[in-house]
Amino acid sequence: MVASFDVAQLRDLFPALKQDQVFFDNAGGSQALGDVVDSITQYLSKTNVQLGASYHTGKLSNSKYDEGYEAAAKYIGAGTDEIVLGASTTQLFMNLSAALKFNEGDEIILSKMEHETNVKPWLHMADRLKLKVKWWVSEKPELKLTPENLKPLLSEKVKFVSCTHVSNILGGIHDVAAIAEAVHSVGALFCVDGVSFAPHRPVDVKAFGVDFYAFSWYKVYGPHISVLYASNKAQEHVNPLAHYFNPTKTLEDKLGLSASNYEAVQSIPQIVKYLSEIDHDASAAHEGKLQAILLDFLNSRDDITVHGSTSADAKERIPTVSFTVKGVSSRKIVEDAEKISNYGFRWGHFYSKRLCDEVLGLDEDGVTRVSMVHYNTEEEVKGLVEVLKKVLP
Ligand SMILES: Cc1ncc(COP(=O)(O)O)c(C=O)c1O
Repeated sequence: MVASFDVAQLRDLFPALKQDQVFFDNAGGSQALGDVVDSITQYLSKTNVQLGASYHTGKLSNSKYDEGYEAAAKYIGAGTDEIVLGASTTQLFMNLSAALKFNEGDEIILSKMEHETNVKPWLHMADRLKLKVKWWVSEKPELKLTPENLKPLLSEKVKFVSCTHVSNILGGIHDVAAIAEAVHSVGALFCVDGVSFAPHRPVDVKAFGVDFYAFSWYKVYGPHISVLYASNKAQEHVNPLAHYFNPTKTLEDKLGLSASNYEAVQSIPQIVKYLSEIDHDASAAHEGKLQAILLDFLNSRDDITVHGSTSADAKERIPTVSFTVKGVSSRKIVEDAEKISNYGFRWGHFYSKRLCDEVLGLDEDGVTRVSMVHYNTEEEVKGLVEVLKKVLP
């Protein structure tokens, strides 16, 4: 139990953090809680049977799975009939895109600040249903999606808008509640990719006012499984993909396609228990301190460009920090750092290729990205700054 926010105490809950490796690729995937690992071992050891059975072990397995769904729904402030758990956010958006109903000629708005997960499914949908796609961009140096830069694109013809809560490159937090209001003012549906937000702040889909929201638990201290929310009202636009003889009442019935991984689903209560015991204000303040150490160094050099907000304010951004260095490839920085240290961070476009190519105008090596979460320490970031000082010209 993490009574208050104590980094040393909470690090103890993650077996992987006892190794000689600094984990700074958390936007790629976080480490898993020991309780999650144990619950998966327990489930597979004792209750790994097909769901729906009425014999003793079958009933145990059914209730563990149901508890996973209930915990996930409660954590994000949704009803259990408003969520579906599935292989990945990409997969869940693709399922949703195959199920949404629109009319030929309707318009949809997609942003260029996205991981491709929040683009391809909707392009596929637009192609299938003959919808018109409009692109939403916030150019440099602002690089921030707002109701103001969305409004010129909105009209009664627009039926669907999608954007990210936080870019996996830029780290800035979008005000999705304000954007939702703008989207709803023309009667369109609003979908948000919460993958980069969820590891850092609590998720409350009703407060956000969104129609669809998804994120992946493998970046939120759990196993490789994701959740998609669709409000009951938004589900009126969702055509069930279920077999004809199966129920079509809940979102799981409609989009689940039998694809939730049982052992992963039943481990979600362990993640939610951990998240509910954390002091989230203290966690955000700690993340603010981590990003301040790195940003102070990066901002102090004229040859370094931080892509996205240069502010360390935790209200502005989460600690996913991407940068490029004049005359040095992002790949070389990472490779050189790996030669002399145990720091794990990465280079590239991180599947936000439209953002890197078309908005930031970067070469194929993209950015160097350091992505921290609340279990990282100030000492680790100070150590990284020393490593960077050694590998940079
Ligand atoms: C912002 C963002 N959206 C979506 C995804 C894709 O998530 P998944 O791997 O669950 O499909 C990622 C993965 O890195 C991401 O960073």
